[in-house]
Amino acid sequence: MALLIKNIRELFGTCKGQQGVKNGGDMQKLESVKNAFLYAENDTITSYGRMEDLSSEQFSAKAALEVVDASGKFVFPSFCDSHTHLVYTGSREQEFVDKIRGLSYEEIARRGGGILNSARKLHNVTEEELYSESLSRINEIAGMGTGAVEIKSGYGLNTEDELKMLRVIRLIRETCPLEIRATFLGAHAVPEEYRNNRELYVGQVINEMIPMVASEGLADYIDVFCDEGFFTVDETERILMAGMKYGLIPKIHANEIGFSGGVQAGVRYNALSVDHLERSGDDEIAALLGSETIPTLLPGSALFLGLPDPPARRMIDSGLPVALASDYNPGSSPSGNMKLIMSLGCIRLKMTPEEVFNAVTVNSACAMGVGDSHGTVTEGKSAGLIVTKEIPSLGFFPYAFGSNLVDTVILRGKIWNPIVM
Ligand code: NIG
Ligand code: FE
Repeated sequence: MALLIKNIRELFGTCKGQQGVKNGGDMQKLESVKNAFLYAENDTITSYGRMEDLSSEQFSAKAALEVVDASGKFVFPSFCDSHTHLVYTGSREQEFVDKIRGLSYEEIARRGGGILNSARKLHNVTEEELYSESLSRINEIAGMGTGAVEIKSGYGLNTEDELKMLRVIRLIRETCPLEIRATFLGAHAVPEEYRNNRELYVGQVINEMIPMVASEGLADYIDVFCDEGFFTVDETERILMAGMKYGLIPKIHANEIGFSGGVQAGVRYNALSVDHLERSGDDEIAALLGSETIPTLLPGSALFLGLPDPPARRMIDSGLPVALASDYNPGSSPSGNMKLIMSLGCIRLKMTPEEVFNAVTVNSACAMGVGDSHGTVTEGKSAGLIVTKEIPSLGFFPYAFGSNLVDTVILRGKIWNPIVM
């Protein structure tokens, strides 16, 4: 099966050869080809270029050639959403109302709401039910242009339920054309019954959950919610070390609620990314500058919880790379809309359209470890693409923050349609 997209008004995110993460000033750079074509064979981009260089005979011999006419439209690499919790059940709009009435995220958590509320709900559904509910979210985000997504466990909070979540993520990986990475987040919250003996729970994560997760090959990454009221730096370090012994790479939640030391801990353990960072200053930026750890900002949860915005501008101006992700979850960001995340990056974080584009494609691909196959339009990479509606400019895409401007989604070289169970 082959696919030709022709008459593309502008093909953005092109890159010859491998492209690592874009740092600082490079985030403003965005390569493109005007009046372009793109050709994919099976699931791989095999060539792209200017329409005038497309000879009509070149592809005519191909038997099954699907042709998309993108006149007046732009083509982007599909979004990489490097931080989500989209495997969950039910919703938490009651807490949303509690927050409107003045309760904070931490107060709700202390009352047994928040993550523990989702854990209780998850305990009561079967793997099949959880898969079917999660699949509808996969369909939703794929339709909005996400082609690669990282998904965390962390609403199980006991061995059996954590494994249930991770098996659902594995099933999604096996049945959906999106690129999936799985993260074990047993240390998302301390369950109620361990409140007075948290060490017992940390021990269970280290001695029971991690070995079982690893023996079934269920996770790529290990995450800890390293923040005030959740897990301490010391607990985080022990859990990361235990995960690393089993080949899991750290990728952690840090500095959402306080200056928790989580960023520095992530850097010490060479985390692939440290995520959230609403509470970050000079020390956090200095720590990140000497490292390969990618700061990943989640402006959807900062907006939803009314948190201070993370200092994206200062990070980029200091030379750091920045990735943006949705944090899709029922408590702090009930949306996986990466186009909205681009808009929030522009509006709240003062990033330019080019910077947010790079932050949701190449940089977020690197932040979830799929930079070799995703994130840019490159020969040999996976043909995951977004064909936009007819729009006047690149900037219009994040500017029109409430409009759906995705016309067609291509995943693994094929026009994507929702998956039916
Ligand atoms: O990334 N901060 C920790 N975890 C999630 C929220 C999870 C929840 O509230 O259900 C987050 O914001
Ligand atoms: Fe999160």
